[in-house]
Amino acid sequence: MWLLISALLLLQPALNLGSGGRNMWLIKEKVHRSRELRLQKHLLDNWKALPAEGKADWVVPKEGLFPQPLDHFNRRNNGTFKQRYWVNAELWEHQRGPVFLFIGGEGALTPYSVLAGEHVDLARKYRALLVSLEHRYYGASINPDGLSDQNIQFLSSQQGLADLATFHEFIKQQYALTGKHRWICFGGSYPGSLSAWFRMKFPHLVFAAVASSAPVRAQLDFTGYNEVVSRSLSNPVVGGSLKCRTAVAQAFSRLDRILARGNTSGLEADFRSCQKLNGSGDRGEFAGNLADIVMGTVQYNAEEPGSDIANLCRIMTNQSLGSTYRRLTVLNKKYMDVMGLPCVDNSHRNVLEQLRSTEVKPFGVGLRQWYYQTCAEFGYYQTCEDKGCPLSRWLTLRSQVAICVQVFGIDPGNVQGAVNFTNDYYGADHPASSRVIFVNGDIDPWHALSVLKNQSRSEVALIINGTAHCANMNPEEEGDPPSLRQARQKVDDQIGTWLAKEHPYPW
Ligand SMILES: *[C@@H]1O[C@H](CO)[C@@H](O)[C@H](O)[C@H]1NC(C)=O
Ligand SMILES: *[C@@H]1O[C@H](CO)[C@@H](O)[C@H](O)[C@H]1NC(C)=O
Ligand SMILES: *[C@@H]1O[C@H](CO)[C@@H](O)[C@H](O)[C@H]1NC(C)=O
Ligand SMILES: *[C@@H]1O[C@H](CO)[C@@H](O)[C@H](O)[C@H]1NC(C)=O
Ligand SMILES: *[C@@H]1O[C@H](CO)[C@@H](O)[C@H](O)[C@H]1NC(C)=O
Ligand SMILES: *[C@@H]1O[C@H](CO)[C@@H](O)[C@H](O)[C@H]1NC(C)=O
Ligand SMILES: *[C@@H]1O[C@H](CO)[C@@H](O)[C@H](O)[C@H]1NC(C)=O
Repeated sequence: MWLLISALLLLQPALNLGSGGRNMWLIKEKVHRSRELRLQKHLLDNWKALPAEGKADWVVPKEGLFPQPLDHFNRRNNGTFKQRYWVNAELWEHQRGPVFLFIGGEGALTPYSVLAGEHVDLARKYRALLVSLEHRYYGASINPDGLSDQNIQFLSSQQGLADLATFHEFIKQQYALTGKHRWICFGGSYPGSLSAWFRMKFPHLVFAAVASSAPVRAQLDFTGYNEVVSRSLSNPVVGGSLKCRTAVAQAFSRLDRILARGNTSGLEADFRSCQKLNGSGDRGEFAGNLADIVMGTVQYNAEEPGSDIANLCRIMTNQSLGSTYRRLTVLNKKYMDVMGLPCVDNSHRNVLEQLRSTEVKPFGVGLRQWYYQTCAEFGYYQTCEDKGCPLSRWLTLRSQVAICVQVFGIDPGNVQGAVNFTNDYYGADHPASSRVIFVNGDIDPWHALSVLKNQSRSEVALIINGTAHCANMNPEEEGDPPSLRQARQKVDDQIGTWLAKEHPYPW
């Protein structure tokens, strides 16, 4: 295990800070990284609690690469890429223990995908074979020329699901699996949608699915995101208040008035911009970066100690810090300190440059890849043009969709059609499936696009009071609220019921 821990430590990528704008991307990276550090600690604590003889038995999960067709739907293209996966067979009961598949997406996967988390806790109980598959085009699962304008076309959720079908066959052969070994898939956020869709489109391969914080309904103009942000800022369950929401809204409307006047040198100094704001592109980034701090804090509430809604509201409602505008500068400074940023990069040109970069990085969040998927499949643009939105009006649909043509040559007019197709193809938020559990936290802005009502007795929606994005996927922790514990218990009970009903087995 010590070997394992040190091997995993080496895997921790350095945070790539200061490489271009968009605070949300930096926040995502940070949250992913600290989730992994917590999983590492969790593993270490588990290991320490083992009896001496158990301590030696730990093994490093098997990491592998296997070849996939670049295009499952056109065999005239004989290109392939190598896809990365992990297997942990330690908990598996070989005769008929199920297979738990953890699905990747949006970024690189790591060995933790088969070592810790809600699905691993369940695997321990149900004696499952744990496997995980990194999504094509993310992490190391990509050819060196994969991100070129020509080759990025083979990145799609349909290709991703076809990869999962091939992977199913590959693992089946490797581990001599039969129909007795039932598969249950897990995923959160976009991979949560993939989890539900894999069960729906491939019911002969997958027995059941858990879809956490899965925005299964594609939407071009995702106005609901900031509606939830607004509600969460006012929600006393997480330390919000109406006063807090109002203070945030006041600060941003003051900001917008200054931005509209054109002289931005005061803003540049107060919010420590790395450069002078040049034109509407930079002003949009500036407003977006500040909004990202609020949006990221809500989306990942309680993930980062100190950077949660309660703390944000403590600052935004503290009158001794001055006007709401001044309080926003304090919030910004605090964010910069946490992230170790000397200044905030508000250059729109840098953002475009970063999105156009075809350099493959085998770790972290896939910015270019994910933006491409929003243009080609999902939309999901988090805008603030509605009356009730408490953030900056500079978060427009137009500016976000413009990037589709500027970076990928996808006409903004075609994005709505792509979004419609995605919903027609998968059934939006009323998919006709069975044995799927949709889990969402009501603080999480993404829950607005998920399945929130029970569709049938075997297509179940669980809403957790007071939790944010994918909170249920973490291993159980001391401070977890009762609502979160109950939700995990319901997932466990449902899986147990489904497994026991089809093939009685003394679990
Ligand atoms: C792939 O197809 C091209 C023609 O399109 C051919 O020249 C090449 O030999 C093929 N490669 C393999 C590995 O079959
Ligand atoms: C712009 O604003 C700054 C401070 O906010 C002020 O010092 C400066 O004189 C203004 N410049 C112009 C050209 O108005
Ligand atoms: C400001 O932006 C314009 C085009 O939008 C560009 O031509 C100019 O070089 C930029 N100036 C600076 C100082 O970056
Ligand atoms: C408000 O800000 C002041 C000045 O920084 C600080 O001393 C005080 O503790 C803050 N109050 C709260 C409730 O956080
Ligand atoms: C997309 O779907 C909406 C409603 O479902 C429809 O009003 C709209 O015309 C469609 N747009 C395109 C481009 O297909
Ligand atoms: C769906 O049904 C389950 C019981 O099967 C229940 O626990 C859950 O609260 C229901 N969800 C909603 C949103 O009503
Ligand atoms: C969430 O829990 C709080 C208590 O912690 C309760 O006051 C509130 O009504 C609950 N909200 C919902 C939607 O059930």
